[in-house]
Amino acid sequence: MDNLRHARTLISEASQVVSFSGAGLSAESGIATFRDPDGVWSKVDPAVYASAAGFRARPNEVSEWYGHRRRTLAMTNPNAAHLALAATNWQLHITQNVDNLLERAGANNVVHLHGVLDHDRCQNGCGYHCAVDLSNPPALHTCPDCGSMVRPDVVWFGEMLPELAWHLAETAIEQADVTVVIGTSGEVWPAAGLIGGARTVIAINREPTKIGRHAAVELIGPAATVVPALVSPADPNTR
Ligand code: OAD
Ligand code: ZN
Repeated sequence: MDNLRHARTLISEASQVVSFSGAGLSAESGIATFRDPDGVWSKVDPAVYASAAGFRARPNEVSEWYGHRRRTLAMTNPNAAHLALAATNWQLHITQNVDNLLERAGANNVVHLHGVLDHDRCQNGCGYHCAVDLSNPPALHTCPDCGSMVRPDVVWFGEMLPELAWHLAETAIEQADVTVVIGTSGEVWPAAGLIGGARTVIAINREPTKIGRHAAVELIGPAATVVPALVSPADPNTR
């Protein structure tokens, strides 16, 4: 049995399936990954652009960079992998991605471990939280409730993951018969640690990974090709 057929069989026999995705899921929509050779962290310093200390030191630059990412996201579309995932009846789509492409593909059961670009929140944690127009993001401004700086509602290095998202993700992975891990390097903790709680892993990546080595099945290829092939209904003529 080839790997794709094996993976399809695991899914058809499972009563609960979840996906766990990273930047590779959105790469073919035109959103750069982080750790690939041309990735985001090869161009900008995460200590400045993904930390509370960086935001405090250079708020205008950080804010402008998120504005650029937001406008880029507004101009991109879900790819075939997002659309295929959204069409499944899987229990949950857990993602490290801060884009909204799974939602725009039609998924309504998405959990964001690292926050979202389409919201802002108060840096001081006073509770202020608001939606952002991605095509027309706000310039740096202060919180209307407490006067502190307002920042993107994403998780920066050294910060806790959102408690509810973490709890939902951990529970869903523990209960799932199969966890489909898509397009992540598995380098960022604690998110990557969730994969260790999965019963059976199907790993999808355009290159072999450590996660794939420990998976029940490793599928090598671009997400927008492999995910639709994994989840599409069986063709009765080829059974
Ligand atoms: P990485 O950039 O670390 O890894 C992306 C993975 O996607 C790599 O393993 C690539 O081989 C794979 N990949 C690239 N293109 C692909 C494609 N078309 N199809 C399939 N796989 C592909 O991104 P993440 O693992 O998501 O955190 O990184 C995790 C976190 O690190 C991010 O959420 C972000 C970053 O710092 C925050 O912003 C808090
Ligand atoms: Zn505030």
